[in-house]
Amino acid sequence: MPAPKHPSSNRPRSTSWEPLAQWYDGWVGKDGSKHHRNLALPAVVDLLGLQPGEQILDIGAGTGVLAPLVHQKGAHYTGVDASEKLLQFARQHHGKEGRFLSGDARRLSALPAFHAAQFDGVVFLLSIQDMDPLEEVVENAAWALKPGGRLVIVMTHPCFRVPRQSGWGWDEDRKLQFRRVDRYLTPLPVPLKPYPGQTGVSRSFHRPLHEYINTLSQHHLWVDHLLEIPTYKTATTGPNAKAENLANQEIPLFLALRARKTL
Ligand SMILES: C[S@@+](CC[C@H](N)C(=O)[O-])C[C@H]1O[C@@H](n2cnc3c(N)ncnc32)[C@H](O)[C@@H]1O
Repeated sequence: MPAPKHPSSNRPRSTSWEPLAQWYDGWVGKDGSKHHRNLALPAVVDLLGLQPGEQILDIGAGTGVLAPLVHQKGAHYTGVDASEKLLQFARQHHGKEGRFLSGDARRLSALPAFHAAQFDGVVFLLSIQDMDPLEEVVENAAWALKPGGRLVIVMTHPCFRVPRQSGWGWDEDRKLQFRRVDRYLTPLPVPLKPYPGQTGVSRSFHRPLHEYINTLSQHHLWVDHLLEIPTYKTATTGPNAKAENLANQEIPLFLALRARKTL
């Protein structure tokens, strides 16, 4: 398979996560946030179907919360990230469970440690929505994947959770909680709200679902399984707890998909 067309340098451009690294590590911890442990990590393990000896690449690995789960199954973990600071935390926490490399998801083919069709599985764990342009990122992921290999993506659901353009509402007449979506079809770079006590903000890139599916298929990655995952949280207090729980169970938080490479 030819190398992607943008291999000029393997030096990562800065990521909006670099100034937030300390805070992110504190929030996520060694084993992942509650969202990771309850929802995102089980979805990755389920969809990936790891086999001993397999080579797994985690793109946008952050502090490396996926590494121990891959290692436990006897597979080999490689994490790549553009943030040096996040990689330092990853090596501290999980250096024995995998290797962590500094690199840009848009230029994987420029990393000396990588070659085409090297990995049995490639994962984007809550990271693809922070990367742009999607076309370059998917092209590089497809390049790294073996024919027949699996690509797994977990992201906030792009149909219901458009950052800053969606939210919960309350219908007093019907006594129900609803989800409002103000914009959906137009791709949108969004600076996220600053996290408590932080001055830096991370950037996210909203895209409609068809853009993901069509970009994957342009690179011979065919979706064969999709999960739509509601939050693990339940409200126990407050006058609207029942309606809140119903809405939380009906409107998914995450979308997880698996695609197989056919060429
Ligand atoms: C929300 S964090 C998720 C990290 C980790 N997967 C997790 O679930 O904790 C998004 C990650 O994507 C990384 N990232 C963003 N753009 C990138 C790029 N072009 N190349 C490599 N990593 C990138 C960030 O540095 C950050 O670590």
